[in-house]
Amino acid sequence: MDMHFKIFRFDPDTDREPYYREYLVATEPQERILDCLNRIKWEQDGSLAYRMSCAHGVCGSDGMRINGVCGLACQKLVKDYHGSEIVLEPLPHFRILKDLMVDMDEFLDRIKAMRPYLLASLPAPDKERLQDPVDRKKVEEVIRCILCGSCNGACPAMDENPEYVGPAALVWAYRYLFDSRDERHDERLQAVAHPNAAPSCKNYFECTRVCPKGIPVTKSINLMKREIAKVLDEN
Ligand code: FES
Repeated sequence: MDMHFKIFRFDPDTDREPYYREYLVATEPQERILDCLNRIKWEQDGSLAYRMSCAHGVCGSDGMRINGVCGLACQKLVKDYHGSEIVLEPLPHFRILKDLMVDMDEFLDRIKAMRPYLLASLPAPDKERLQDPVDRKKVEEVIRCILCGSCNGACPAMDENPEYVGPAALVWAYRYLFDSRDERHDERLQAVAHPNAAPSCKNYFECTRVCPKGIPVTKSINLMKREIAKVLDEN
């Protein structure tokens, strides 16, 4: 079946304004959008820029907006868009480097600011720091994050407050805030209580809808808000 692709194009070095270019691709229903993108690049237009690596929903590098919904091009099948034109655009709320490729630096810096690593005073044991399975369960959903940026791209609260750290940074904050082996719970809680962190989430649930790993992002943010109210607001 022939599918029409309309793809956002912009090269800041040569283009004054973004524009869309159209491509016709002979596709199979089970093919992924990423397969079609590869075909366009290899057979029709080698100048098209986008990221990909694993092609199996693991590396998180091909986050983009597909017919208005953020997600991974390697997880979306042609058959799900049957009969419609497929519009591909870069993730919103990210600076465009070229075409569908965005600058991830600010996104990663906001995650780094949450100190996404264990803070413990005891010297590291010879092997790993063991954790009770019950405690592990508290963070098992959020550790699935692959840093694709789909949640930040989809979040309307990022339009309302450009300083908002975004749902991805809060997912990483949650991961260590509720890790039973971490010893800086209060410091971490102060960080997520900042007005540009958890309080900026307005429960749009778009992050949860688009997360390719099924992380309950909004629920995690709300659990942190509850912890803020319990620990900080009562003191
Ligand atoms: S290419 Fe790795 S997640 Fe899609």
